[in-house]
Amino acid sequence: MLGKNYKRYTVTAALPYTNGPVHIGHLAGVYVPADIYVRYLRSSGSDVVFICGSDEHGVPITLKARKEGITPQQVVDKYHKIIGDSFQDFGISFNIYHRTSSDTHHQTASEIFKTLYDKGVFTEEVTEQYFDENAGQFLADRYIVGTCPNCGNENAYGDQCEKCGTSLSPTELINPHSTLSGAKPVLKETRNWFLPLDKMQQQIETYVDSHKEWRPNVYGQCKSWLNGGLHPRAMTRDLDWGVDVPVKGADGKVLYVWFEAPIGYISATKDLCNPGLDLQKKSEYYIKDSLKPTDSWQKYWQDEETKLVHFIGKDNIVFHCIIFPAILMAHGKYRLADNVPANEFLNLEGDKISTSRNWAVWLNEYLLDLPGKQDVLRYVLTATAPETKDNDFTWKDFQARNNNELVAIFGNFINRVLVLSHKYFEGKVVFGSEFSAVDLKVREELKKYPSSISVSIEQYRFREALTEFMNLARLGNKYLADEEPWKVIKTDEERVKTILNVGLQIAANLAILAEPFLPFTSAKLFGMLNLKTQGWNRAGRMDLLERGHQLNESSLLFEKIEDEVIDYQIKKLMDTKTANAQEEATPELAKKNITFDQFTTMDIRVGKILAAEKVAKTKKLLKLQVDTGIDQRTIVSGIAEYFEPDQIVGKNISVLVNLEPREIKGILSQGMILMAENSEGKLSFVAPTEDFPSGSVVR
Ligand code: MF3
Ligand code: ZN
Repeated sequence: MLGKNYKRYTVTAALPYTNGPVHIGHLAGVYVPADIYVRYLRSSGSDVVFICGSDEHGVPITLKARKEGITPQQVVDKYHKIIGDSFQDFGISFNIYHRTSSDTHHQTASEIFKTLYDKGVFTEEVTEQYFDENAGQFLADRYIVGTCPNCGNENAYGDQCEKCGTSLSPTELINPHSTLSGAKPVLKETRNWFLPLDKMQQQIETYVDSHKEWRPNVYGQCKSWLNGGLHPRAMTRDLDWGVDVPVKGADGKVLYVWFEAPIGYISATKDLCNPGLDLQKKSEYYIKDSLKPTDSWQKYWQDEETKLVHFIGKDNIVFHCIIFPAILMAHGKYRLADNVPANEFLNLEGDKISTSRNWAVWLNEYLLDLPGKQDVLRYVLTATAPETKDNDFTWKDFQARNNNELVAIFGNFINRVLVLSHKYFEGKVVFGSEFSAVDLKVREELKKYPSSISVSIEQYRFREALTEFMNLARLGNKYLADEEPWKVIKTDEERVKTILNVGLQIAANLAILAEPFLPFTSAKLFGMLNLKTQGWNRAGRMDLLERGHQLNESSLLFEKIEDEVIDYQIKKLMDTKTANAQEEATPELAKKNITFDQFTTMDIRVGKILAAEKVAKTKKLLKLQVDTGIDQRTIVSGIAEYFEPDQIVGKNISVLVNLEPREIKGILSQGMILMAENSEGKLSFVAPTEDFPSGSVVR
């Protein structure tokens, strides 16, 4: 085995936000690779705890609650169960699937915050934050949207622009407005506690630099953060859903979700290692007695001989590699992550997976639509895992990999060897006189597989590991095809006994080695071989099945997936596309009525464009000189993507002339050009159908 030997392993998988079910992107990015790693470790006899749970705080949850008209607690109760059940059905073998809304977590997160607070780690700062006066609430993170200063996306969030990926703070947004009331927020002073990451830069850099073995995408992202210089980061928020800030004078404040969520791993381990935990909680947290931990929770988090590994998606890198370690360093008692294998993203049929556009294959739906096919999805997601770059999932590829790989290679080999054993020798393991030269060569090759697969898994190269595994199935297939026992049986039964013995030993090896990747299939195969489950260190041997051993009835390991099944799934996605397009095409609902007096407050005039030029460093903006009949003035307008400056000079237009002047990109814009916009976002000028003089009134 590689590197240092550890006494035990703590493996965590990112806690999913509890505002919707999990989809194939989550599975491919985090849960399937983590489960392979853990199952491999367990099979090798390692002491390991595999930790996950629901991330139940944060703005995504409260927004979902508002949307559905229920409480945040109702949202998380609903999705905790949906997610937990589907992980369990899918064979993700967490020791615990905990919850950050639990008492244990609230206590643990509070204690850690309090420890840092008492050590004087935090700085207290009064800053101006956006406040929604209608809603009477501060607008943290996703409570605020506005135009991205980087790319002009009008729906950028207060913490991030999803279009260009830039991370933002609310005050950077142009034209910010509240997602609660739509109101323009005001700035209001508030006091929060900050983690002085700037002062910890050196310490964090030393830590990251000691991990050059991390995946290039992970190490690279850390380095670029570090090179940009770390800044203090607020660890508390003015919100009411979360873990209360456990210090005086912090009413109405909760811990920043990225402060407490990773601590959820520790809280979960505490409950897992608590033998007194009541039965109701055990079932709520999906704890199984068969996966009892052997040590106290402290051993899994504070002991030098424990290896700590976080499986996450790439959008979580900075939180797990910089901020969480910084919190633990400041605390002083904890071990820091040894590795953080983060995957890139999985796309679906060429498009980015999106929860809000329902562009996803949801795990709970998959399990209903394709019952008993957990391993097929596990296989496909591993074979196409976005380990080093984004990757695409397509249903056609899913079908092809099932039919051409699982069925045609692995399944076919197992089926042949079992069917022939039943046909010729009544399902008994037999042996002829001796191994041939070919047999001995196969034996030598077989021996290498367990360790080469181990090496790949221990280096988090799961695609490669799976390929290696399938190569062993290929070896078995080729062996049978070359040795042709179905022909030899006519002349040399002794030889066939040996051939089938070799084949069966390979099959038993495949049962062991399949377990991390394809646990359901492995169990089925062990069953057909009438063999108790065996651990990884038994693999590589040619004597797993003794002579005279009786095999069980055999059935197909995998079944061909027909076109109808795939077509149904593709149709489902097409329906989503159609629904999305229709939604976008639906005319906007009429706004609330206004009075005639309100209408007459708007002064709209016919005007003419005199000059037009692009505003530097923007994609959307044109600076226009406009004759309003009253005066000539400058107006900045977001139409550059649709019109070339030259084309529009001389055009008749309508202008709202009494709009409060506003500075845009350093230019004072005095008024607004009226534009019609169709469902595709195409723009057209609104103007009289005849050539009217500038200054004519529109009413
Ligand atoms: N909920 C976060 C996400 O889905 C992940 C949280 S990981 C944790 O991106 F460690 F912070 F819990
Ligand atoms: Zn942007």
